Amino acid sequence: MAIYYQHEERIFTLNTDNTTYQIKVDKYGFVLHLYYGKKISGNMDYLLTYYDRGFSGNPADAGDDRTYSMDALPQEYPVMGMGDYRNSAVIIRNADCSECCDLRYVSHEIKEGKYSLKGLPAVYAAEDEAQTLEILLEDPVSKVQVKLLYGVLEKEDIITRSAVITNDGEDRIIVEKAASACLDFISGDYDFISFYGRHAMERNFQRTEIAHGSHTIGSRRGASSHQYNPAVIISGKDTTEDNGSCYGLAFVYSGNFMCEAEKDQYGQTRVIMGLQSDLFHYPLSKDESLIVPETILCYSSQGFGTLSKKYHTCIRKHICRGKYSNKPRPILINSWEAAYFNFNGETIYKLAKDAVELGLDMVVMDDGWFGNREDDNSSLGDWQVNEKKLGCTLGGLIQKINALGIKFGIWIEPEMVSEKSSFYKDHPDWVMKIPKRQPVRGRNQLVLDFSREEVRTHVFKQICDILDQGNVEYIKWDMNRSLADIYSMDKEQGRVTYDYVLGVYDFLEKLTGRYPDILIEGCCGGGGRFDAGMLYYAPQIWCSDNTDALDRIKIQYGTSFFYPVSAVGAHVSASPNHQTGRSISIHTKGVVAMAGTFGYELNPDVLTKEEKEEIKEQIACFKKNEALISTGDYYRLSNPYKDEYAAWMFVSEDANEALLSVVMLKMHGNMTVNYVKLRGLKADAIYKNEETGQCYYGSALMEAGLPMPAELVEYPAYQFRFVRC
Ligand code: GLA
Repeated sequence: MAIYYQHEERIFTLNTDNTTYQIKVDKYGFVLHLYYGKKISGNMDYLLTYYDRGFSGNPADAGDDRTYSMDALPQEYPVMGMGDYRNSAVIIRNADCSECCDLRYVSHEIKEGKYSLKGLPAVYAAEDEAQTLEILLEDPVSKVQVKLLYGVLEKEDIITRSAVITNDGEDRIIVEKAASACLDFISGDYDFISFYGRHAMERNFQRTEIAHGSHTIGSRRGASSHQYNPAVIISGKDTTEDNGSCYGLAFVYSGNFMCEAEKDQYGQTRVIMGLQSDLFHYPLSKDESLIVPETILCYSSQGFGTLSKKYHTCIRKHICRGKYSNKPRPILINSWEAAYFNFNGETIYKLAKDAVELGLDMVVMDDGWFGNREDDNSSLGDWQVNEKKLGCTLGGLIQKINALGIKFGIWIEPEMVSEKSSFYKDHPDWVMKIPKRQPVRGRNQLVLDFSREEVRTHVFKQICDILDQGNVEYIKWDMNRSLADIYSMDKEQGRVTYDYVLGVYDFLEKLTGRYPDILIEGCCGGGGRFDAGMLYYAPQIWCSDNTDALDRIKIQYGTSFFYPVSAVGAHVSASPNHQTGRSISIHTKGVVAMAGTFGYELNPDVLTKEEKEEIKEQIACFKKNEALISTGDYYRLSNPYKDEYAAWMFVSEDANEALLSVVMLKMHGNMTVNYVKLRGLKADAIYKNEETGQCYYGSALMEAGLPMPAELVEYPAYQFRFVRC
């Protein structure tokens, strides 16, 4: 039993293999947080302390007791208006405009299996893999109810949290803020690790001290964003890859979010993950509910490496769905950096022929195949094949490509419309814009109001008409601007940003339902919507529009803290690189792209014979190691922000096979030797380097490391494959 309840003490204990989470309903019906961390025994309510503190008010129930204050007690779901002046998990504006919600325990239920969330992605599990705890709270005055949901995946060390807010009263209320998780730490000093960035440079690692005050990250862009990823780590000051405490919070949502970390006046730390409160005022009339997207929590007492491993497994096995979630993905070549908009049917066919020669599995026709799309200023919304440009029908092209023995995939951007399009002429009122104002443009395109069903239904039909023209086996679903002009016709405002994301999910659910065999790769100008929500529909996401191997090392390093390698779209591209102008050998680029789904994004015509041979070898190498890479344990072996080299490795579950990848980042005269220390091997087992035949004890490779060659080239890369003797 993962969840048990002690009736007398009113304590809930949520146990996983290695962690414990404890909650108490106290004498007034407030739901207090007792503990989250390494597995422990016993009741932790002895940790609660009560002091008479100035300017920390006391609820009426406490009578003359001045030591009881919501301002100091650790809570599960703190509300605004009850004397807690820290960040709140929920803010309710009542009909009289007061902002107060007095949530008290009403009842609870413990169920087998993992709860699901209507219309939203969420961790899923078999009935015997998880348990659910539901705690119902209610404000006795407004009759606002909150159902706190906890999912416990014992074996995975995962606890999920969500909340359903329902208006059971007569008067209409507005939800001004709603989070799914709050973690209150009564003691300790912590660091806040977030992954910030920008277009073409996503998920940079940032570690800052949680000091007094509130540190907030989030998105107001309509998508989870390039700027901050909706996943953070709270760690001890000394936590490293291998040692120390850390907590992960990953939001399963692809839109506006907010994460706040705050150290309060008493040195306590509160972390909240939930919906962004800006641009959000969600109205609830009687009997209406708001489902707050889920947060996946995980705790590791063994550093970031173990935390990442737990998230990788959870996302691979309990978030990603569909035919490809656990299957090798096709190695593809994409037309974008090979031709941009400058192609016709022959170009794509030629790319396919080259792909066959090189040993690839699929060719993807990127942007430019529809309407009059010759650049990125027109035609979004006109999802009709430009047969004039292609010189053939889509069906004909796919047949020819399939006849070569490879698959075909296509790019789409369903959420967008260009003003220069027939679609916009016919439906100018289907875009997001505020009445009487000119909408903000981004990449010269406008955003369709996906919160409206009629808009989605129309676009869905257009996209199906395309997909039904031939054997399309892959879709790259793009989204190339941030939302602005948050307004929807025929709707109460304040719910639009949320309804937009649910609209996208609804579309994707229908699409995956109708085309279960099509692999979807998510994309948002690269990794602008790289989150667990999207991975529920698309098991891989184009990691970044930046394909420069050196930048990618950092981007993929940041991405790896939460997301498995099987989710990371990574390609080898041309030299000099189109985003940085840097020239890096095709070998190094291959080693870096192999820490992802692997593929190519270049014109094979301009490659030398040697480069083509190298590509063939890379493909053979990736195919040989595919299972190890996509399902093995992933280890970060260096910090590319500090170290002279970037190193990472994959180890099979039984530790019989390992693949070590190293890229030298900094070269100096009379180079000193770098020793890369491996991880995850069996200490007393002997491993053979497959290439040299040399044998080593696992303990030697892990404790003393492997010396790297000192070659006189820029950014050399190495792969070492070890097998257990
Ligand atoms: C985005 C994607 C690119 C490419 C272009 C096409 O920027 O991230 O990979 O598909 O759109 O316009």
